[in-house]
Amino acid sequence: MKRSAAYIAVLSLCAFLLTSCAAQKPSDGGSDQAPAVTVTTAAVEEVSEKMENAIEKPSVTEDLSGEKPVAVKRGSASVSICDDELASGGKALLISGRKESWNGADYKSDLFRGNEVEVKGSFRSANASVRVSVQFSVQGQTAYNMVFPVNTKPDKYTAGSGKYTIPANAENIIIYIESDTLEDIYAESFSINVCGEYTYYERAAETVFADTSDYPSLKDEYSGLFRMGMAVSPNILSKPEYSSLVKAQFNSITAENDMKPEAILDRTASVLDMDKYREAPALKFDHLRTELDFARDNGMTVRGHTLVWHSQTPEWLFYKEYDKNGELADRELMLRRMESYIKGVMEWTSENYPGLISAWDVVNEAAADEGGMRQSLWYKTIGEDYVERAFEFARKYAPEGVKLFYNDYNSYQKRKQEDILSFLKPVAEAGNIDGMGMQSHIGTYMSISEYANALKRYHDELGVEIQITELDIGADKSDGWEEKQGKYFRDFMDSVIELRRSGVPITSLTLWGISDSLSWKASDRPLVFRDDLTRKPAFDAMIEAVRENG
Ligand code: XIL
Repeated sequence: MKRSAAYIAVLSLCAFLLTSCAAQKPSDGGSDQAPAVTVTTAAVEEVSEKMENAIEKPSVTEDLSGEKPVAVKRGSASVSICDDELASGGKALLISGRKESWNGADYKSDLFRGNEVEVKGSFRSANASVRVSVQFSVQGQTAYNMVFPVNTKPDKYTAGSGKYTIPANAENIIIYIESDTLEDIYAESFSINVCGEYTYYERAAETVFADTSDYPSLKDEYSGLFRMGMAVSPNILSKPEYSSLVKAQFNSITAENDMKPEAILDRTASVLDMDKYREAPALKFDHLRTELDFARDNGMTVRGHTLVWHSQTPEWLFYKEYDKNGELADRELMLRRMESYIKGVMEWTSENYPGLISAWDVVNEAAADEGGMRQSLWYKTIGEDYVERAFEFARKYAPEGVKLFYNDYNSYQKRKQEDILSFLKPVAEAGNIDGMGMQSHIGTYMSISEYANALKRYHDELGVEIQITELDIGADKSDGWEEKQGKYFRDFMDSVIELRRSGVPITSLTLWGISDSLSWKASDRPLVFRDDLTRKPAFDAMIEAVRENG
């Protein structure tokens, strides 16, 4: 429920300060949360009269003047205030003892629910990507989204900032600092402020899910054109309201995170026996069974996502002894690791789930935003032919019929298009690529004709099929945004259907998530179902497009 800022701001501020300073249990990345702040309606009514003229909004500043920081530890890290001559004020927040990359510093942020916040911080650490992220849960599902990254140096502070709109029905909201290494992190400043007017949102009531059983089915409506897919997680599949909707609407799934290298590579087992695992790192697969069983039991296919990527791939993989303080591995060693990884994943999936995986994103996001190839650790260790080599290995080990894809975002943009085509041409000439995956994390600003031209061009020039692999369409948040977004979905689908009809082999379209607040881009409200699973105009637009043109 919405309440005006003047009405409850001081109450919010008090409650906020109390909870910010309260000791909090470490988070294990989702399941071990401290209870959320509960400001009941009655409590608000009781003090609201006295508060009428108050207009303060909640804010957090790590001012470093006291003995104890405002932050509380996340996971096994500890947080303290230390002297640091490199910091502008001579003091810094020190986050140490980190055992996992998500260990860091938490700022309890429930009072920011429903508001857009601007988060700022200035950090130093090893040469690492320090991330400020937000965690919250919606209907028992926990979401983790990045607010902004900062590429840090060990001996110099680097500032960064980002804005994020927290869903109005989010609970257990935590804004936190983490990084992709285990080194200590220093912050010389950190703050969270509301952008514009503050509105207080009470803790969300338990959502009553819509009855989705009579919705027209995307997979059935589009059956003459292409498969309809959805990105899923084991969490989503464990809740009947979600899983029955997924079954009714889709005939393909992609694991949103579980088939990525960071989920499959096993460092603990690898370093226990370096002689055995130096060239072929140990792999773990059991966590994949929930999603793969679900697909198999419901007659769906799976897009394997993804084998060779710069992100969500642990850095230790690229070091000789699997130790980031040591030397980088050389080309030969990395080629052997790449081959063994691809072989291991292909073999496990085809032995345990024969015929289930229809396509693999062999290489993801190799093009740099600024042009050319991304200077990833794959590129740095193997060299610019790493994409070709990855596809060669994939072809060697993929079972017959499994399609090999390249996948990227903003691949409709002119510059990326040229870059992608130039490094994929030799792969196509060698006969090692079958498809181009257009991720399609887009917004209503994108030119649909530019997108359609790019899609067609990949097919024409590489001779491959096309899949739309991660569709979400951010809304512009102005009045009537759901309708405008719906209209854009309609134009987008009309164009995709027309391309398909004209002979471009578009073979599937996957939506990247189930409902807006559970999207990795929750603040853009980019999906086709609302949080209670009612249909947005975007869903109806997808159905109407195929009924009228399909
Ligand atoms: C995203 C997931 O949705 C998030 O849950 C995760 O935290 C980060 O990755 N391109 C891709 C996907 O290929 O794997 C990414 O998925 C979104 C961008």
